[in-house]
Amino acid sequence: MNLVFLEEVESTNKYAKEHIDEYANMTVIYTDNQTAGRGRLNRVWNYMGKDNIYASIILKPSDTMKEIYSNLTQYLCVVLAQVFEEYGVIPKIKWPNDIKINSKKISGILAEGVIENGKLKGLVLGFGINLNTKKEILDKINQPATSLNIETGMVIDKQNFLKKVLEIFCLRYDSFIEQGFILIKDEYVRRASFLNKEVTVKVFENEISGKAIEITNNGALKLLDKNMNEHILLIGDIL
Ligand code: BTN
Repeated sequence: MNLVFLEEVESTNKYAKEHIDEYANMTVIYTDNQTAGRGRLNRVWNYMGKDNIYASIILKPSDTMKEIYSNLTQYLCVVLAQVFEEYGVIPKIKWPNDIKINSKKISGILAEGVIENGKLKGLVLGFGINLNTKKEILDKINQPATSLNIETGMVIDKQNFLKKVLEIFCLRYDSFIEQGFILIKDEYVRRASFLNKEVTVKVFENEISGKAIEITNNGALKLLDKNMNEHILLIGDIL
């Protein structure tokens, strides 16, 4: 992997998308100062200080396995969970790709595609991880959030954490591109916090409630509503 460090940038995802032609497959853009971070579903990703991770991986997979591209966020999510476990904490996955520790969000993933003249030039897989953040700062966010230093009582070495993420990401990336979500399904489901529970999922402006009964072989969430209708959701956010 090729690492590119930027002193300050609006958003590593935005930068990676705008400069995608200049960088090879598997280039990682990361920064200490992200001034306009973006989250999923048009939200913002708050800046928590320089000792946290703000990074984006540029991927240029061949176009034979398009249907699994959206699952790359789930692949990265499992990778992050593995790294968190090395620090002795118990990460729980909230579909599709959030990680919570003790019911508080610790990391988020945002995938974006770059399309030109109808052709996909590449994908940008951005991730933000709270590694070293003060509780007072976390308390100001509009949802319960935590940071690895708080969960472990240790100062976390950012370079070391990022190195572990990228190493594990590379290990099975090629297999994942070939096989898709099924490769990691068991590892994903084992850490899922939402299965067999009543959930409400926000899908853009709509909300749908039901019991989360299954993660399908392609990573979708299957819900059973109160009228016993099944819904298979490919995108959304559990509230
Ligand atoms: C979410 O949970 O809503 C996804 C958050 C993704 C945040 C990361 S930080 C690095 C990269 N650059 C961005 O602007 N966003 C992603």
